[in-house]
Amino acid sequence: MREFHNSLMFKINPLKEFNTEITLPGDKSISHRAIMLSSIAKGATKISNFLDSEDTLRTLNVFRQLGVSIDYSPGDKEVIVKGRGKYLSFEKKALYMGESGTTIRLISGILSAQRTAITITSADSLKNRPMARITLPLRLMGAGIQGRRINNSEYPPLKIAPAGRLRGITYRLPVASAQVKSCLLLAGLYAQGKTTVIEQVQSRDHTERMLKIFSANIKVRRKRITVSDSVLNSPKRLFVPSDFSSSAFFIGLTLLSKNSRIVIKNVSINPSRAGLLKVLRRMGAKIKLNNLNKDYFEPYADICVESSFLKAVNVREEEIPLLIDELPLLFVLSAFAKGVTSIYGLKELRVKETDRIYSMGYNLKHMGVKFSLKNYINSSGDKDVMIKIKGGKRLMPSSIKTFSDHRTAMSLIIANLALNSLAKADNIHCISKSFPQFFKKLDSIRVS
Ligand code: S3P
Repeated sequence: MREFHNSLMFKINPLKEFNTEITLPGDKSISHRAIMLSSIAKGATKISNFLDSEDTLRTLNVFRQLGVSIDYSPGDKEVIVKGRGKYLSFEKKALYMGESGTTIRLISGILSAQRTAITITSADSLKNRPMARITLPLRLMGAGIQGRRINNSEYPPLKIAPAGRLRGITYRLPVASAQVKSCLLLAGLYAQGKTTVIEQVQSRDHTERMLKIFSANIKVRRKRITVSDSVLNSPKRLFVPSDFSSSAFFIGLTLLSKNSRIVIKNVSINPSRAGLLKVLRRMGAKIKLNNLNKDYFEPYADICVESSFLKAVNVREEEIPLLIDELPLLFVLSAFAKGVTSIYGLKELRVKETDRIYSMGYNLKHMGVKFSLKNYINSSGDKDVMIKIKGGKRLMPSSIKTFSDHRTAMSLIIANLALNSLAKADNIHCISKSFPQFFKKLDSIRVS
């Protein structure tokens, strides 16, 4: 299905109608957290359906460098982590986080509480992503963490000097970010006194759910989460449901394809993650959930989708954190939907792997879509961005410029496949960050 066009261009052949069932790899956010919490817990944890993508393997390798024994070889179905307890071992002076934003932001909470100095380095692409959102509150807890400063902002590399025991704080998150929330909750496991994080808008709650099954001292009262000094105990086994964000590409492809149907098995449907489902149903999507496992610490189900006629909708600010990673795909679906879709509260999209408002606007405009944006002041009084997408007109296939962003790449491949066109992209390596099996899974639909 993939073929070399020249050294940079890849072609992806169109699909026919399909009626199939697929299983997709494990959830990325849950996989990161499974390695982290198992590493600092007492006892061994067997993790099944771990996502073997570039970012999650980065977390796994970083914890190995911190002295944690982790049994895993490429292709293994399970990872076994032999927890070290809260304090890690430091043989290296620097730890490399590659391109993984989740690794760097979450691990900073753990490393700030250790007793050893360390530098946290990254690939160039991550050097542009804002870190003051974690370093400022960590310093309020007494941590000796500093980023590379540019004006009032901080970026990787981060330097941590041990600064004695952390102190609990009460902190209202200025941005809706599960990475920031999780960083502070992890630091709070080591701090003296209580650490309370207050969210203005709820973001994904995987850390809170997993901390509970590792017997942490944690209380969740709606958008107010409190942790205190905890010794984590391994739950022994952890199953990682399939990734909702990866599934979203197959949901989108099915909705836009003619006479097609798909069942995606055992997908995480945590409500703080699967906000796209609500929006899609408002758009008229035919989606059902079967075999619901709602009692597991992370609920999951089979998602059944049929080709659907989509209509435009409005998406509100408070819905954004619940579908933050699905926005590029939602832009594509809006471009196919009848009418004008308005989506509010998009400022955080500017600081993902690339500026996704720009990357998606650039590509969709090349496909003939009317895509406009407006700055406005949001309900918290902050500067924000909204976009309008006029959909429903026949789109033109177009070569994809991925901006080295995995979700931009996959969303636009779906758009071109939905046009039954050959998709061409300039860089598809970025897809390995979250979903190295993407093409293999598309191939499996082709032959079904
Ligand atoms: C993630 C949180 C989100 C999301 C990212 C993964 C996590 O980032 O976009 O892909 O695993 O906590 P923010 O916390 O920056 O919103």
